[in-house]
Amino acid sequence: MIIIFEKYLQTPTIESIDYNKDFDDVVNLMDIIFPDTADDDWHREYLDEIVDWNLSVKLVVDGEIIGFNLFSEHDYPKLDGNGVHCVALGILPEYRDMGWGKMLINYPYEKFKNKYDYLWAQHFKHLNNIHHWAKRHKVVDEGPIYVTYTYL
Ligand SMILES: CC(C)(COP(=O)(O)OP(=O)(O)OC[C@H]1O[C@@H](n2cnc3c(N)ncnc32)[C@H](O)[C@@H]1OP(=O)(O)O)[C@@H](O)C(=O)NCCC(=O)NCCS
Repeated sequence: MIIIFEKYLQTPTIESIDYNKDFDDVVNLMDIIFPDTADDDWHREYLDEIVDWNLSVKLVVDGEIIGFNLFSEHDYPKLDGNGVHCVALGILPEYRDMGWGKMLINYPYEKFKNKYDYLWAQHFKHLNNIHHWAKRHKVVDEGPIYVTYTYL
């Protein structure tokens, strides 16, 4: 017998984040998605300090936040123009490989193309995901982390 949970048959929606209502949920997701990067306190402090919540979005299915793409209006010093920083992108493991993460990946290229000159992001090497980013971005710096960008 195959059981298909109804939420997997729904189409998720990308929605604005309400900081007061959603902040704790987003931090909880960060803890699950990036367990080896930092602990809950660090995630909480870092996101609170750096993220522009009015630029950032959540992915929702069946009323539950299952992913996010968080941004900050910051330039990267080596790049020309006005930049937007992709601070954190993620979706819960059980919802991956269905094209739902791609909705979040695509979001800034369409949404920010008339607002910013480039999108940049940092990638811890232990995440082993640079081959994914290289599909859309160029590497501008490499140390313990990669820094990548693309002009919009
Ligand atoms: C990034 C993430 C949201 C993508 O969601 P997904 O469900 O795996 O991806 P989908 O099946 O919807 O889409 C596949 C696309 O996502 C890209 N992708 C997959 N994992 C990725 C990752 N870790 N970082 C960037 N892009 C990723 C694939 O290259 C593919 O691109 P293509 O369709 O242009 O070939 C998800 O893998 C995730 O949460 N990973 C853990 C957190 C993470 O590594 N975030 C990036 C931090 S730098």
